[in-house]
Amino acid sequence: MSHLFLVGFMGSGKSTVGRILAKRLGFPFTDLDRAIERSAGATIPKIFAERGEPAFRALEHDELAKLGELPDHVVACGGGVVVDDGSRALLKVLGRVVYLRVTADEALARIGSTGNRPLLAGGDPLALSRTLLASRESLYEAVADTTVDTSGLTPAQVADAVEARL
Ligand code: S3P
Repeated sequence: MSHLFLVGFMGSGKSTVGRILAKRLGFPFTDLDRAIERSAGATIPKIFAERGEPAFRALEHDELAKLGELPDHVVACGGGVVVDDGSRALLKVLGRVVYLRVTADEALARIGSTGNRPLLAGGDPLALSRTLLASRESLYEAVADTTVDTSGLTPAQVADAVEARL
């Protein structure tokens, strides 16, 4: 089992780059957030609002575990997948992990509206992004087999850089 997992902060380009890579490599693509929404029958903002972040992390872990039964996929993970110890362990076991690094400022510029990102919706999005990213940086690095700095690169260029490392 060797999925290709893309991890990184919100706005790092995981989904866009993941689709490009899946097409190039001929693997199916999975967006973990969308898979969670399908399984839970609710949107991510609704899951956070009604059940809280710990419940969301448990759903995220369960969805990741399901990939253990599937053939190789390119998987775009949610930005917070690394905060759960069990999910980090699963990522290591189930495939290779690429960390797409982005600054908080660039991430926010790419995201645009923070409406569907509950963790950025409760205050100043830039301050929240900087704090959250700082608290996660070492976790992304710990789980990653390789890191690609996405600053100033287009999604296709990021995909080139990932392919070059594989
Ligand atoms: C989250 C990132 C989101 C989504 C949820 C929580 C996070 O995914 O999983 O809102 O904790 O960083 P994206 O990184 O795809 O926006």
